[in-house]
Amino acid sequence: MPFQLKDSFGRTINNMRISVTDRCNFRCRYCMPEEGMVWMNKNELLTFEEIARIVQIVSRLGIHKIRLTGGEPLMRKELHLLVRQIAEVDGISDIAMTTNGYFLKEQARELSEAGLSRITVSLDSLDPIKFSEMTRRDYFHKVWESLELLTSLFDTAIKLNVVLIRGINDNEIEKFAELARTKLRPTDGGQAFIVRFIEYMPIGADDEWENSKVVPTHEIIERINLTFPPLIPIEYHGNQPADRFRFSDGVGEIGFISSVSEPFCSSCNRIRITSDGKLRTCLFSLHETDLKTPLRAGANDEILSEMIVDAVRKKEEGHLINRPGFVKPQRTMSQIGG
Ligand code: 5AD
Ligand code: SF4
Repeated sequence: MPFQLKDSFGRTINNMRISVTDRCNFRCRYCMPEEGMVWMNKNELLTFEEIARIVQIVSRLGIHKIRLTGGEPLMRKELHLLVRQIAEVDGISDIAMTTNGYFLKEQARELSEAGLSRITVSLDSLDPIKFSEMTRRDYFHKVWESLELLTSLFDTAIKLNVVLIRGINDNEIEKFAELARTKLRPTDGGQAFIVRFIEYMPIGADDEWENSKVVPTHEIIERINLTFPPLIPIEYHGNQPADRFRFSDGVGEIGFISSVSEPFCSSCNRIRITSDGKLRTCLFSLHETDLKTPLRAGANDEILSEMIVDAVRKKEEGHLINRPGFVKPQRTMSQIGG
């Protein structure tokens, strides 16, 4: 039997998110301050070769799904070269990326050719003005052009991550539901976008998070059901943080990531590597395992492998958002990698 990473709560770990840079060309309010972000030095970042080496090691530990994140992953030059290196690793069956979409118009094709199988784009508003308020960048149209291209390039639905903040963009719930139902791929008529509503989490660079700004999943579902054929849960096997739903008339699918109201910690299957080579076993970890220092000091695969197995064994049971003991991690979302 091949080795399979497991933690002390019996959860199978088969998914790794790799942050390739902490930089971003957007300044989403819930993620970064307007000014004054201090970026890591280039030499602090893992090189593509170092990332590929870690992927090789974890693939032998039973990790077969990789997701590239940032900051904005496409701020890293020639990212398709990394995708190609990862795609060549035995045992990796799925390479995905979460991006703000800005650079995709120019790069989607070469990324897909290099072996990127799926793309998730963060899109918090369908209104260009609201979009620039939320991201502090007037880039809606550029992102939308990228999305149009993606629908003809990939033969599966593109996931759109929508972080709802009460009083800011929760008036767009119906517009997003409509988009999920009506927008079709020009190539084969399949659903173009799977919209996934994400509950706003206390992990941004600002201190504006309040429980009252979170729009809980049950409320979004109730709102959608007032306007559209009622949502029905989709039963599926496998681990995804999203609860999937389809509309009862069979047109369209949407998802919900209820990180605050109903955390998916008990079925969590993932670990993370930050762009400076620290292993994090939870988005909300207060502890990290430095892999870069031993890697650069010449540690062999066996030593690095043992460090990873050890860290996974200590994976946290879950996060404590909304409970008295909750402590916000030091790093921002852009430094952890979503
Ligand atoms: N709460 C919820 N989601 C967030 N993201 C970034 N910051 C937050 C937050 N505070 C989302 C981004 C992106 C994904 C990686 O994480 O919108 O889609
Ligand atoms: Fe950039 Fe994503 Fe943070 Fe927005 S949420 S500033 S796109 S890293």
